[in-house]
Amino acid sequence: MLSQQTIDIIKSTVPVLEQHGVTITKTFYKNLFEKHPELLNYFNHANQVRGRQQTALANTVYAAAAHIDNLQAIVPAVMQIAHKHRGLGILPEHYPIVGENLLAAIKEVLGDAATDDILNAWAEAYGVIADVFISVEEDLYKEAEKDGGWRLFKTFLVTKKVPVNEIVTSFYLEPVDGEILPEFKPGQYITVRVKVPGDEYTSNRHYTLSQPSNNNEYRISVKVEDECDPKGVVSNFLHKQVNVGDTIEVSAPAGLFTLEENNSPLLFVSGGIGVTPLNTMLQTMELGRQVSFVQCARNDKSAAFKEQIEKKVNELNGSYRILYSEETGYVTKEDLAPFISKDTEIYICGPAPFMETVISIARDLGVSDDQIHFEFFGPAMSLEAL
Ligand code: HEM
Repeated sequence: MLSQQTIDIIKSTVPVLEQHGVTITKTFYKNLFEKHPELLNYFNHANQVRGRQQTALANTVYAAAAHIDNLQAIVPAVMQIAHKHRGLGILPEHYPIVGENLLAAIKEVLGDAATDDILNAWAEAYGVIADVFISVEEDLYKEAEKDGGWRLFKTFLVTKKVPVNEIVTSFYLEPVDGEILPEFKPGQYITVRVKVPGDEYTSNRHYTLSQPSNNNEYRISVKVEDECDPKGVVSNFLHKQVNVGDTIEVSAPAGLFTLEENNSPLLFVSGGIGVTPLNTMLQTMELGRQVSFVQCARNDKSAAFKEQIEKKVNELNGSYRILYSEETGYVTKEDLAPFISKDTEIYICGPAPFMETVISIARDLGVSDDQIHFEFFGPAMSLEAL
C-alpha cells in the first residue's frame, strides 16, 4: 500500500515526466539494451529503428501512475498488453530490469529536479504497477497451459506454404510433438519467434490465426512488408527463406479482439491485411445474425481472401462491398452509412490511420464507443482507455 505522500508526489510529477517523454524513453532504451542486450531477443528491432515502440512502454507507466490510487481502473487496458507480453514470453524477472533502467533514465534526464523523494516514490509506484502486470500475466500463462496448451514457445513444422496473392502467403503450421492443439477464439493471434540469418538476436512477431480453430494445425497469412523502410525483417524472411519442412517457434494463441456473441447487426470493416482476424471471425459464423463486410484494399491484386469472404457473406444472406483505394480513394461516410444502424456492432482492423477514419465515421453516424471494436496492427501508440 502506497502512502498518501507517495501518491501525491507521483500525481504531481506525472506531467513533468510526460513532458520529457521522448527523451526519457530514448535514454531508457539506449541504456537498457547496452546493459541487457539479451532483451533484444524480445523487443521488435524494427520498431526500435522506426521509433514506434519508443514511447508506448513508458507512456503506459505514466498513465498507470496517474491512476495509482485506483489501479483496478487500468486492468482492462493492462489485459491487452499482458496478452502481448505473455505471447512474447515476458517474465517476472524482466520487470525489475525495466524498472531500474526507467528510473535511471528519469534521473539522467531530469538531473537535480529528480530529488530522492521523487525517485523513491517512482520506484515504489513502478513496483506496484509491475506487480499488477506480473499477476495478470501469470494468470494468462496458466490459462495458456490448460487443455494441452503450453507456457512459452513450442516448435512447429511448416507443412504448407500457399500464396494468397502477390503479397500475402499462408503458412500452415503443425506442432512437431504431434500434440492436439487447444481451441482458440477467432481473432486471436500467435507469436512467431525466428532467428533471421545475420541477426544476432531472435525476432518475434504477432500474426493473426487466419483460419478457424482445429485440433491439428494453425494457419497464418503474412503480408510481405517490402515497401516500408526498413523492410519487414520477419515477413521477408518468412516469405523468402522459410519453406515447407522448416520449423519455427510459436507461443499459444493470445489476444482479446474476438467476436462477442449477441444478436445485433454486425459490420466488419477491414483495411489491407487487417482482413485476417475479421475473415476468421466471419468464417465461424452461422446463419441468423445480420452481417455486412466492407473490405478496403489498395487494388484487386492485394485484396486477400476476397472470394472466400464474398461466398461466406452470401451464405449468411449478408452484404459484401469491396473498395479499392487506387480507384475511389479512402473509405468515406457515404460508403459505410448503408451498413450502419443505431445498434450495429462494428469490428475494425487495419492500419492506424485507416482505423481512426472508420472509428470517427462510425461515431459520426451515431454508433456508441462500446459498439466499436478494433485492433491496431503494430504497437499501440497511446492508451486512450486509461
Ligand atoms: C509491448 C507496456 C514491461 C517487453 C508493450 C506495449 C506496452 C507495454 C504499452 C505495447 C503493446 C502493444 O503493442 O499493443 C509495459 C509496461 C511495463 C512493461 C507498462 C511495466 C510495468 C515490460 C517488460 C518487458 C517488456 C518488463 C521485458 C523486458 C515488451 C515487448 C513488447 C512490449 C518486447 C513488444 C513491443 C516491441 O517488440 O517493440 N509493453 N511493458 N515490457 N513490452 Fe512491455
